[in-house]
Amino acid sequence: MTNTLEVRNVSKAYQMPGERLRVLSEVSFCLNAGNSASIVGPSGSGKSSLLYILGALEPPTSGTVLLGGRNPYEMDERTLAAFRNEKIGFVFQDHHLLPQCTVLENVLVPTLVSRPGDWQTRAIELLEQVGLKNRTHHRPHELSGGEKQRVALARALVLKPELVLCDEPTGNLDHESTERVSALLHELHGQQKNILIVVTHNPDVAARFGSQYRLIEGRLQLE
Ligand SMILES: Nc1ncnc2c1ncn2[C@@H]1O[C@H](COP(=O)(O)OP(=O)(O)O)[C@@H](O)[C@H]1O
Ligand SMILES: [Mg+2]
Repeated sequence: MTNTLEVRNVSKAYQMPGERLRVLSEVSFCLNAGNSASIVGPSGSGKSSLLYILGALEPPTSGTVLLGGRNPYEMDERTLAAFRNEKIGFVFQDHHLLPQCTVLENVLVPTLVSRPGDWQTRAIELLEQVGLKNRTHHRPHELSGGEKQRVALARALVLKPELVLCDEPTGNLDHESTERVSALLHELHGQQKNILIVVTHNPDVAARFGSQYRLIEGRLQLE
């Protein structure tokens, strides 16, 4: 069966003292394994909120999210934690690498609590693909910003997740590193046949991906 991400009528509101902040309204779309999408939209338009909901990190107020036919918000905590770790890869604007660990150890972090496998070989292969095989024993502070994001990308992909979510992955990078990271995102997605969603402010980055969406006032529109 092909894996699918099905998002149906997802709405999100945050209850604040004295007011209810509506952030997403009836967002629906569907992506299959091998599909990619970008999401643009002004700051505060709900892009990160949507990614957290898709990433099984924050329940929607209403609506459903199904990945491979499974609803993460109906799982018990233990199943949900394993599902998140194995099925979903996240890349954030900040790399979130562990400063005391080497590049290779950082890439292996998700495998510490996963099913058994030859993850070391996989991690080294990924580091080779992102052009960092000669940095495996470096620590994050010894890397450039672009290199750190490439490590974060390898870490997100190490367990072969079905869904890869990137929240402004090039937001802190210069032009050249942005090019390299977005080209790698595209290339590795092409090889691994996952579902890839990239939130970005950069129109050149957004244009690389299959479906281009814009969030406006909580509604998701196809560009
Ligand atoms: N946990 C939260 N509690 C309350 N309000 C939030 C929370 N997270 C985000 N918001 C608000 O929701 C809106 C959308 O935020 P966000 O999803 O981060 O937008 P974007 O990523 O597009 O900048 C903003 O107005 C933000 O202040
Ligand atoms: Mg955001």
